[in-house]
Amino acid sequence: MTDWNAHPAHFWMHGHRPAKTVEFAEQTGFWTVSGYSETHQILSDPVTYASDIGRFFPQGDTNDPLVKQLTEGNILQMDGAAHRDRRRVVSRAFTPKIVAAMEPRIAKLAGDLVDGLVGRDEFDFVSEVAYPLPISVIAELLGVPVSDRDLFVYWADKLLESKNIYHEAEPSQDVQAASMAALREFVPMVDYLNQHTAERRRQPREDLLTMLVQADMPDNEITHFGILLLFAGHVTTTLLLASTIMCLDRYPDVARQVREDRSLIPGLIEESLRFVSPVPAIFRATAVDTEIGGHAVPADQLLMLALGAVNRDPRQFADPEVFDITRDPNPHLAFGRGAHFCLGAPLARLEGRIAMNILFDRLGDLRIETPPVFHPSPEMCGPRHLPVKQVQR
Ligand code: HEM
Repeated sequence: MTDWNAHPAHFWMHGHRPAKTVEFAEQTGFWTVSGYSETHQILSDPVTYASDIGRFFPQGDTNDPLVKQLTEGNILQMDGAAHRDRRRVVSRAFTPKIVAAMEPRIAKLAGDLVDGLVGRDEFDFVSEVAYPLPISVIAELLGVPVSDRDLFVYWADKLLESKNIYHEAEPSQDVQAASMAALREFVPMVDYLNQHTAERRRQPREDLLTMLVQADMPDNEITHFGILLLFAGHVTTTLLLASTIMCLDRYPDVARQVREDRSLIPGLIEESLRFVSPVPAIFRATAVDTEIGGHAVPADQLLMLALGAVNRDPRQFADPEVFDITRDPNPHLAFGRGAHFCLGAPLARLEGRIAMNILFDRLGDLRIETPPVFHPSPEMCGPRHLPVKQVQR
């Protein structure tokens, strides 16, 4: 098995590199950027390269209240002062102090999950560990019941199914109608978060929803942020944990080294993020005529930054196809860069570190004999199911 059955759109996972690092495709109407320096330049200049890209994707009737609720107030698509203000508020939930304080709770959650696997010969690593751990952490952070976690995974799957990575300049009526129908699937999720937010207004608690209410964030934006966290905070971290196990299976010498020397775990997590970047691509739009990697790119163009490919650019990473946990520095862009740099990066790294330590402490080697099932959406990269066999030491 050389490429783990990754999605065909993730060409870097199949050992391909495009001849050009900046390329326009007539068929999709957007530019693909797969070079490191070009992506670095784009993410470092949020004025020339804007995050407000909603207009490029079919969104249904923009006057519909549901469409407004689901598309307005999305921090990922905000620019300038509006983004800075919103980020200032929500980043209060992710200070180093708050994240560090979550360590004992994450260790308890991870410990309980892993204890249930002691002595079990075979299991799906995703459903037993990689999925329940991050979703429980996010639910506790937000302040919604962990027991609702199956609902969140259902909604996250719907959200991924509904997204259309291939933009159409003028979406047909059918595309518009299909996108409206998909959005309607989210009514229960919006209602769910609205209810929790309304309850925090009446009865404040010690949680993130209360903090956002007290920061005077409008209800629709709180709901939007809640959806983003339930989605961005768990699918991505699930993929990171599972992909790390996949890498350890492929590189047993690395697994042996890390088992013996746990100080190597942070390097393992960083290399896993580089090698199998969970968010394979992000988008930006050119605000003015510009030049990227020697190509003239006009204003109002959609750019897909293929982070997975960028993180294997040989101009930046020596031997990019080699899984090397000792890379130092390892300046991968798996969490993005600049104004929108992932707010949850310290939390995801902490979860990865704690989970790997506990796995090495309490379980045998996890070996893969059946091919992993990769996430079916091109918007995510990593296993959705990872059957493993536990080999006692
Ligand atoms: C933004 C990746 C985990 C919350 C981002 C971006 C990337 C990313 C690439 C930048 C998007 C852009 O520039 O357009 C990841 C990966 C994760 C992860 C690979 C796990 C391995 C998390 C977690 C949380 C989180 C655990 C929260 C609990 C956010 C938020 C933003 C963001 C709120 C938006 C920041 C902004 O727009 O200013 N993430 N993420 N992420 N991430 Fe993560």
